[in-house]
Amino acid sequence: MWTLIICLALLPVLTTSLDNGVMRVPPMGWLAWERFRCETDCVRNPHTCISERLFMEMADRLVKDGWSHAGYKYVNIDDCWTEKKRNATTGRLVPDLKRFPNGIKPLADYIHSLGLKLGIYADLGNFTCGGYPGTTLDQIQLDAQTFAEWGVDMVKLDGCYSTPEERAIGYPKMSKALNKTGRVIAYSCSWPAYDGGLPPKVNYTLLGEICNLWRNYGDIQDSWDSVLNIVNWWGKYQDILIPAAGPGHWNDPDMLIVGDFSLSEGESRAQLAMWAILAAPLFMSNDLRRIGRTARALLQHPGPININQDPLGIQGRLFFSTASLDVWKRQLKGGRYAIAVLNKGTGGTPKKVELSLSSLNITTAQFYVITDVYEDKPLGLYKPNASFHFSVNPSDVLLLLVEPLS
Ligand code: GLA
Repeated sequence: MWTLIICLALLPVLTTSLDNGVMRVPPMGWLAWERFRCETDCVRNPHTCISERLFMEMADRLVKDGWSHAGYKYVNIDDCWTEKKRNATTGRLVPDLKRFPNGIKPLADYIHSLGLKLGIYADLGNFTCGGYPGTTLDQIQLDAQTFAEWGVDMVKLDGCYSTPEERAIGYPKMSKALNKTGRVIAYSCSWPAYDGGLPPKVNYTLLGEICNLWRNYGDIQDSWDSVLNIVNWWGKYQDILIPAAGPGHWNDPDMLIVGDFSLSEGESRAQLAMWAILAAPLFMSNDLRRIGRTARALLQHPGPININQDPLGIQGRLFFSTASLDVWKRQLKGGRYAIAVLNKGTGGTPKKVELSLSSLNITTAQFYVITDVYEDKPLGLYKPNASFHFSVNPSDVLLLLVEPLS
């Protein structure tokens, strides 16, 4: 009798599981929103408007300029891709007739022919954040089916114009609907971001069962302040966020803005290093047709990417912080660690730092090799209690890889 009751109690949990087997490491790709927003005037702005041309050009760049080889595979459409009304007969979402004259299926085919994947955007509610048709509870099944028929590989379900009650029904419902299509479609949920990102309103156990990734917090903007604001929030609530992340289910601090207008070289290094430590999805939102050499080399640097893609999928932790210096630590496969020393200060001189591995609780091996990841330079062989000295520039990071000597 008790066994039966327990089994019945578990049933809803088991059946809501997304279980699509994808994103065992954080996804990597390109996403339109931060850089291209809701530009719909293709007459005045043919190169930057949200159109099939934009996504095809980005896909071309991903393949031709080494991005795909470095791991960036997703090309993701965000808001403002539809007509202002659904099809009156079928009730389906309709891609903007002028900006996507061929529809989404041929775009997906093109992207697949390049070995890439296509992501699309929907919003649980009456409207998207940009005012385009949303996906109400009764339209979830139809939209999931439509995306599957078009060959979409990932859906971001935003939450503007929804109530907490609708989200509690709608996000699990979309998860089931995507599963039911029979196509493997990764699922990005903005649910927690609309409910303050914290328990008790947010249930991270449930999210891990129904979504592959989720936006926890506000939108990134093109500024260092915005990057710092996100990093600080991740540090403050890490005891809640760390257990939520793992293979197949990730916290998403939002897009990489490296290569856009605002970040300096040091700040760009810092954003990428922190996204690597946080096991964050790496979706760049930049113009790959115009990106500079330095930003490109940085974003394709295998050092931070390998840290980000570590198969254990353990999100890093703020180990300690002083006035303006954060020391972050991420455990990696094979007894290795990544350490990010982030100088958040604005004082003009580099900060001198002295650390030992034992002060970071890294004590198992007799010796460790420490490498400066961005410089790709071994700094030496260290016993756990030996001190090492370095300096970090203001608004910059030192990213270290610590490996036991075998
Ligand atoms: C919200 C989301 C953003 C983006 C916009 C589109 O603000 O958080 O990532 O999708 O909507 O309107």
